Amino acid sequence: MAATIIDGKGFAATVREKVAAHVARLKDENGITPGLAVVLVGEDPASQVYVRAKGKQTTEVGMNSYEHKLDVDTSEADLLAVIDKLNNDPSVHGILVQLPLPKHLNEDLIINSVSPAKDVDGFHISNVGLLGTGQKSMVPCTPLGCLMMLRDHHGSLSGLNAVVIGRSNIVGKPMAQLLLGDSCTVTIAHSRTKDLADVVRRADIVVAAVGRAEMVPGDWIKQGATVIDVGINRIEAPEKGLKEDGSVKTRLVGDVDFASCSERAGAITPVPGGVGPMTIACLLANTVTACCRANGLAEPEGLTA
Ligand code: GUN
Repeated sequence: MAATIIDGKGFAATVREKVAAHVARLKDENGITPGLAVVLVGEDPASQVYVRAKGKQTTEVGMNSYEHKLDVDTSEADLLAVIDKLNNDPSVHGILVQLPLPKHLNEDLIINSVSPAKDVDGFHISNVGLLGTGQKSMVPCTPLGCLMMLRDHHGSLSGLNAVVIGRSNIVGKPMAQLLLGDSCTVTIAHSRTKDLADVVRRADIVVAAVGRAEMVPGDWIKQGATVIDVGINRIEAPEKGLKEDGSVKTRLVGDVDFASCSERAGAITPVPGGVGPMTIACLLANTVTACCRANGLAEPEGLTA
């Protein structure tokens, strides 16, 4: 039977509505407008697209958006000074430094200079530690979005076998922690894993976050498993013809082969329209959560881990 398609785009719209409702309440009842500051160093085209989308969606849910665009050759001291100012600005509740940073900047140092309470990416070492020890933390946006969709689909995840393919700090590792927190039996697989096919075949939940186009074939998927595809890969699509400049047109695909995996899975996220839209929605959710915590107010229901 064909898999249920998990509609991340629709789910993200619902998350944004919940965020907008909570923002409206914070304004009406407490006179507070949550604010998100995004810092972009340099002019990486993909990062510029993301930052624009973040700014647009931030204002659409009624929050204040502050963008800080810095030259590609900004010094570490100058970037740290910008972050320090944002850390001490009470109108800023969330700070996101867009990654990757130019090579001359120490990414770990910069990430750990953001106040943990305003670290809406959940990348600060103290948030990583809090998540790893099951304490209240800021949770990285992409894994949080995956968790929300999994909880919505399954209800309880308790006792399920989950395999996360990929061990990045942004997705793989925090995803594994969140699944463990929901009482899954968790395996983290990666490029050196032996017999990856056999490992994945045992999974009730597969989260693919490796960044390799269509690397998981359908025959690795246990019948009825839930497949969450975090990959966003652009590949050539000769069937679509040529662009004006003569080059082959392209299309986006995930880390799993959607056609064959959806024949065996019970549920699957598409690419595009699955995990992608949830990431920014969860950034907005984290910002409203950070704002509530900063002001000692009740957190929004269903928007945290
Ligand atoms: N670059 C790509 N994804 C992310 C993300 O989730 N957060 C930040 N800060 N930079 C990114």
